[in-house]
Amino acid sequence: MEERPASESSAVLVKWMGITDANSAGFIHGGTVMKLCDEAAGLAAVRHSHSRVVTAAVDRMTFLNPVFVGELLTLNARVNAVWRTSMEVGVRVVAEDPRTGDSRHTGSAYFTMVAIDEEGRPIPVADVRIETEDEERRAREAQVRRANRLAERDELRAGRGWS
Ligand SMILES: CC(C)(COP(=O)(O)OP(=O)(O)OC[C@H]1O[C@@H](n2cnc3c(N)ncnc32)[C@H](O)[C@@H]1OP(=O)(O)O)[C@@H](O)C(=O)NCCC(=O)NCCS
Repeated sequence: MEERPASESSAVLVKWMGITDANSAGFIHGGTVMKLCDEAAGLAAVRHSHSRVVTAAVDRMTFLNPVFVGELLTLNARVNAVWRTSMEVGVRVVAEDPRTGDSRHTGSAYFTMVAIDEEGRPIPVADVRIETEDEERRAREAQVRRANRLAERDELRAGRGWS
């Protein structure tokens, strides 16, 4: 199967945070940020796979700093690693105060997206071509997350007496 560079999957979503995105304390809801991360991850996965995709799992979502009403949120997503029908997509979230231009990293997320056909059945995905040291590190770390996820699943199954 053909290979596509990780950089070709790169997707950027930008959204200005308004009052309806906030909680009663005036911070932006974590759920608002998660939804945008899922959208950005989906876009990167579609760009890579050239197919429909579904979110199979949110492997991790980290909130490093709060986001405030009036800030501009930028979500950068790209495919880190590809297995058979699934891909790990990493998303980096940056908030910017548009009055000052000051920006900060407010969160990161890792999603497992699965390519599907019209009937919703998983289909094979093109391999990802790693071209930079950063991409190499992301791919390596994605393998660690997958190995941990599978090990956890096996341990939980064994604990329930499932094969
Ligand atoms: C994700 C989904 C397509 C997997 O279907 P399935 O019948 O379990 O298919 P398979 O067992 O062949 O697994 C397909 C791939 O999904 C991966 N996968 C399945 N469940 C997973 C999970 N919980 N976490 C991570 N990866 C998972 C498998 O590892 C496999 O990857 P690989 O081919 O690269 O090794 C199916 O569970 C589904 O449609 N889920 C609902 C998705 C959804 O509605 N998302 C929210 C809206 S987009």
